[in-house]
Amino acid sequence: MEEEVDYDAYMREPIIRKSFQVKKGLKKARIYATAHGLYQFRINGIVGTGDLFLPGRTVYTKRLQYQVYDITQILAEGENVLAVLLGDGWWRGSNSAENTHNAFGYKLGFLGQINLEYEDGTSEMITSDSSFRYLPGPLLRSDTKAGEIYNAVSEPTGWDCPGYDDSTWKPTLEMKYAFDNLIATSSVPVRAVETFQPIVLHTPDGSTVLDFGQNITGYVSFRVDVPAGIRIRMVHSEVLNKEGNFTIAHYQGWYALQSGREEPFQEEVYIAKGKGVESFCPLFGVYGFRYVLLEGYPGEPDPADFTAHAVYSAMEAAGTFTCSDENLNRLVQNSLWSQKGNFLEIPTDCPTRERAGWTGDAQVYCKTASDFMDTYTFYEKWMQDVAADQAPTGKILNITPGGKPYIMEEIRRQAICHGEKDDETLTKKLEEQYGQGELLDGSSGWGDVAVILPWTIYQVYGDPRIIENQYESAKKWVDYIIVNCKNPNPHYKDAPWYPADSDGDCDGNYIWDSCFHWGEWLEPDSKANASGDQAAYFTEMIARQMTIGEPPLTTAFSANSAHIVAQMAAVLGKEEDAAYYDAIFKRMKRIYNACFIKEDGCILEDRQAPQARTLALGMAEEDKIGKVAAKLNEYVEKAGFHLNTGFLSTKYLLPMLTEYGYKESAYRVLEQDKYPSWLFQVKNGATTMCESWSCYTPGMEPFASCNHYSYGAVCDYMFSYIAGIRLLEPGYKKFLIHPVPGGTLTYAKAEYESPYGTITSVWKIENSKTVYKFTIPANTKAVIRLKVNEEEAEHLSREISASKYEEGIISLEVGSGRYVYTVKS
Ligand code: BGC
Repeated sequence: MEEEVDYDAYMREPIIRKSFQVKKGLKKARIYATAHGLYQFRINGIVGTGDLFLPGRTVYTKRLQYQVYDITQILAEGENVLAVLLGDGWWRGSNSAENTHNAFGYKLGFLGQINLEYEDGTSEMITSDSSFRYLPGPLLRSDTKAGEIYNAVSEPTGWDCPGYDDSTWKPTLEMKYAFDNLIATSSVPVRAVETFQPIVLHTPDGSTVLDFGQNITGYVSFRVDVPAGIRIRMVHSEVLNKEGNFTIAHYQGWYALQSGREEPFQEEVYIAKGKGVESFCPLFGVYGFRYVLLEGYPGEPDPADFTAHAVYSAMEAAGTFTCSDENLNRLVQNSLWSQKGNFLEIPTDCPTRERAGWTGDAQVYCKTASDFMDTYTFYEKWMQDVAADQAPTGKILNITPGGKPYIMEEIRRQAICHGEKDDETLTKKLEEQYGQGELLDGSSGWGDVAVILPWTIYQVYGDPRIIENQYESAKKWVDYIIVNCKNPNPHYKDAPWYPADSDGDCDGNYIWDSCFHWGEWLEPDSKANASGDQAAYFTEMIARQMTIGEPPLTTAFSANSAHIVAQMAAVLGKEEDAAYYDAIFKRMKRIYNACFIKEDGCILEDRQAPQARTLALGMAEEDKIGKVAAKLNEYVEKAGFHLNTGFLSTKYLLPMLTEYGYKESAYRVLEQDKYPSWLFQVKNGATTMCESWSCYTPGMEPFASCNHYSYGAVCDYMFSYIAGIRLLEPGYKKFLIHPVPGGTLTYAKAEYESPYGTITSVWKIENSKTVYKFTIPANTKAVIRLKVNEEEAEHLSREISASKYEEGIISLEVGSGRYVYTVKS
């Protein structure tokens, strides 16, 4: 534990060592470790594990993970050394949207224990007490966003190995903390998984820039041979500016907006030791980048001396999708790369500007993420943090771990810095507010992560544990909504939902028309989506949203969440809850239809999002579905087959068009390559998904983040509609295969590793015939649905008795096996 505190400056990070003896006959040795801050441990100079960013990222005040590693093989008889390096990490480093520091504390600390077991049955324990010694180490700065400064000159030679004399080091300070927040790790380990070599660019302004060809999250290791004290500076960015020069101005502008000062950004500095060729790999630095500005490096860099490492929570691969259009294949890769780039311990919005666990983004993307990778463990862990952050009222924070500090001392300090008077009234106010979330928290579509995500993950994997664990939190969120619905918003006093209903209960009690909501967020024609005066825009937008909210949006999401909680309750055998929440859902749906869906099916003139959302969340009554869908298609046609949906509803757009008979419109939107569209980004060089549709507009200065996965949720359309693999029963015990060839595609293939084995769906169009090939794994059932003519239907129903032919589509109930069908296109 450190002695000094500096609230605002970056601190020099401590290194810790402990020398201990191992006797003859060691049978088993384990280390248990955690930290306030990030830790790397070494045994006898060897880094103890390839797992990175330990102890992980959680709501540390309530859930601090510890790790356990078997170190038997790296210990030797005689003297051994445990060496530990610490970094600020998410403990006290720059945090989240507000870019606050000291979120969980001011001082770094290490808690560890080595258990030695001998053949003769005896055992020993080495614990992190004041017999451990420490020094300020070579890391002069180690901040999550600003980056690291590593001074190799000040690294004591051999400090992490036996034989080193640490008598001048200081004994560590032993602190007493309650251990009640300690939990065994449940993280999917973060590892350096893939590597890239650069090409060297000499940009028009004379700089040397390394281009790794792919936008990733990670760091760059390198080799160098320079005299001692030479500073090599690497700054990381996702894009070049319109002149082709390196830039981070668009991030720094945003920073300045948040903290009022310009801060270093994604900057790794290495001060060379100067003893021949030396290799360096960042310790706790992680950046979102494709380009690296290289300064201080002597002569022309040899690309072979630089390696970029893509770092992410190393989940198993699950699904792949390829088709006959190379641009769509690139789009799939872009989405997958945004997933890799944003799945580092928690699901983040982006790996650069905010690096925050934005709940809405996670909710939108969770099914697609699970199409690509096995996400169960990853999400299970993070959802526990979402619940840990939930306010007693049931409010869900917009980001988890939260963007504001968790310790009262820092909350108070920051309040005073922002002009609050340091007195009893402040203490009282802060105590009352503690843990309640902020005014902007609890946004509809964001908070619904508490319900949508666990339910989706249960559907995908069939394991009810996640809904058992999250049920109380999901229910509390819906209860919070219900309480807020009962809080009338004076702005809507004359709205049709206010007069009391026949049962005396006012319909307004089921419409969420108050509180702040982000709304659909970043519809392509909204101001939030453009460069310009963002500060003014935000002030105006927040004031507007606080006053008028978004009743159609919030009511659709709320009803959907009530509906899901009812279904969760049914799975868990909670009959009363199931009936209660189902009744809430039905009432909200009835009022929604009466108040928000006009006679002709329009919800909001020319807006695609409300139409698609209404259909996807099951909010239109039977007799209105056709009209709502027709309006959706009308708006899409009117927009020249461009989308105008934002964060929340883009993923619904193509599925809903396809589901309700407008498949060719869906394909035209998907294959669209003029702004705004997915392929506009791809064709202009994006290698990840962008936050804004205009991120890659030629001739425009970069703005916004180039690595936000939310719009990548379109990839689920490829698995679920183009290849047609859709869940019918949890865990893919039973599923649908209903491919929908269309657009200019002549071929598509999806492969998905379900809990029961590999599911494949392939189709190819050749000589006016479509050949379909499917694999259904053992112990599962599938319903295959294909568009066929009457003759083909007759032939197929002779082959498979469990079949039905309706409106040109044959449905075949099949068991495991391989199936091939050739039908006229
Ligand atoms: C973040 C998001 C987030 C949004 C909330 C942005 O600044 O990057 O992805 O969901 O704010 O509207």
